[in-house]
Amino acid sequence: MSHKKNQCKVTIVMGSQSDYSTMKYCSEVLKILKVKHESKIVSAHRTPDRMYKFAKTAEKNNISVIIAGAGGSAHLPGMIAAITRIPVIGVPIESKKLKGLDSLLSIVQMPKGIPVGTVAIGRDGAINAGLLAASIISLSDLKIKKNLNLWRKKQSKAVNKKPR
Ligand code: RP5
Repeated sequence: MSHKKNQCKVTIVMGSQSDYSTMKYCSEVLKILKVKHESKIVSAHRTPDRMYKFAKTAEKNNISVIIAGAGGSAHLPGMIAAITRIPVIGVPIESKKLKGLDSLLSIVQMPKGIPVGTVAIGRDGAINAGLLAASIISLSDLKIKKNLNLWRKKQSKAVNKKPR
């Protein structure tokens, strides 16, 4: 009997339920572009075993890109990137005290050797993380390439030539 492989190309992980109000924008974009994806709560400090197991089995589970959102001392994307070779995009969540500057610096300042692609703080970053993940997938998936091109065309069309 053959084991059915996980069909999800992108996995979105977040450190807490509270990150979902930002991270849901990643899945919205991926849904529009018809990129198969799933979302999970995986915390580097509250559920370290879950995080390790997820990252360790990501390749075997056929995941092509991981989007990891975290806030505050946001070590989740870097920790996952240290365990797997699969590309990791980090989304800095807007924290209450420092408005996400803490999250941004934690994620973007990875020392050499283990890269994490970092996007902007909050909703814009989450949207761009979805688009970037789709863009990576589009390198080997013609359908996603077409969807992404169409999405960009629509975006350009929606910009008025003159201000109203
Ligand atoms: C991080 O701590 C999460 O990514 C979240 O952004 C932050 C706060 O988490 P909660 O206290 O809201 O669960 O791990």
